[in-house]
Amino acid sequence: MSSPGSEPAQKGPRWTREQLDRRNRRLGHAGIARAQDILARRYRLECADAAFELLKTSSQQSNVKLHTLADAVVRTPAPDQDATSWFAGRGRFSPPRLPGLRLDAGSRHSQGAVLKATLHRLLTITQTPMGNVQLAESGRLHLARHTGLNRYFTDFFAFVETPTTLCAQAASAGVLVNGAGGAVGGYAVQLAKKAGAHVIATASPRSREAVASAGADEVVDHTTTGVTAAVTEPVDLALNLAPVDPAELAALVTLVRPGGVLVNTTVWMPAPGDEERGVRGIDLFVRSDADQLGKLVALIDGGELHVAVTERVALSELPALHARAAEGSVHGKVVVLPPAA
Ligand SMILES: NC(=O)c1ccc[n+]([C@@H]2O[C@H](COP(=O)([O-])OP(=O)(O)OC[C@H]3O[C@@H](n4cnc5c(N)ncnc54)[C@H](OP(=O)(O)O)[C@@H]3O)[C@@H](O)[C@H]2O)c1
Repeated sequence: MSSPGSEPAQKGPRWTREQLDRRNRRLGHAGIARAQDILARRYRLECADAAFELLKTSSQQSNVKLHTLADAVVRTPAPDQDATSWFAGRGRFSPPRLPGLRLDAGSRHSQGAVLKATLHRLLTITQTPMGNVQLAESGRLHLARHTGLNRYFTDFFAFVETPTTLCAQAASAGVLVNGAGGAVGGYAVQLAKKAGAHVIATASPRSREAVASAGADEVVDHTTTGVTAAVTEPVDLALNLAPVDPAELAALVTLVRPGGVLVNTTVWMPAPGDEERGVRGIDLFVRSDADQLGKLVALIDGGELHVAVTERVALSELPALHARAAEGSVHGKVVVLPPAA
């Protein structure tokens, strides 16, 4: 049987109850720990405990579960420094109609009741005595409901963190990076992989190897293959870094699943979306965010994010460097060295 998490190391044929408990506690609290870290940095709090208090108080005041609030803090970009609250506002949506599930009107608001009814219905249709529902959460699977399974199974599969099962592979987000051959693309591929996504990237033969070693699962040669033909499954996020024309940019929207996002950095043309399918188009500009930059530096220092420095040139060569960059023949990051004092 393959391991659903990275630790503890499996020493024998079965993990002990203590090992599973320890791993599940760690994974269960991982989202809260990440939110604590973000809040502590942002509000310059003295310690993680102060950040936990802030989370706890906010969750009680807003009547939102601690895990749900922590997940939202992790997923929502930090607001501007002078903003008075983290979130722009609380969206309230009607629960979907769920024909086929025996639920009274009040229970349609309860995730637990919906999952219970769904599992019951599936087991009735398939005439199966045991089964479970796993939810995709923060790039991993969480066993949310089960019936008829033994304790070892439910503890073992409480969280599936790494893509060791077909379900976990299917649950990982799909990200398309169009124009991954440059410096920004290299970061995007690495960060998307680190977040557990399945990454499809476009690159010419010139940059194919660099993009593959950044971690792309699939590399499409844009000089021979159209990206719309190569991407066969809808992605959650399409990131465009390439100087394509507006029609090609619009075609990328068709590759994004309903509710997904197209992010465009070539902002001389606006990012298209598809309102009908709930696909948002986002124009992304450089934003100097000290917290975010600090995190990236920590990843680089920790060897988790690699910066492709391709050249080092003297300051006196700066005009020539700009001229080459304008021609499009500079790839990767260039370090400009001032004369020695
Ligand atoms: N909005 C902002 O604030 C902001 C800030 C920084 C950068 N940017 C933009 O972000 C983009 C990425 O920056 P970068 O420094 O990584 O640029 P870059 O080095 O020019 O990389 C873009 C890559 O796109 C690939 N490409 C070219 N034509 C393509 C096509 N038709 N289809 C697919 N790929 C194609 C090229 O790679 P291969 O030939 O090797 O495949 C190239 O290396 C640039 O467009 C830049 O202008 C925007």
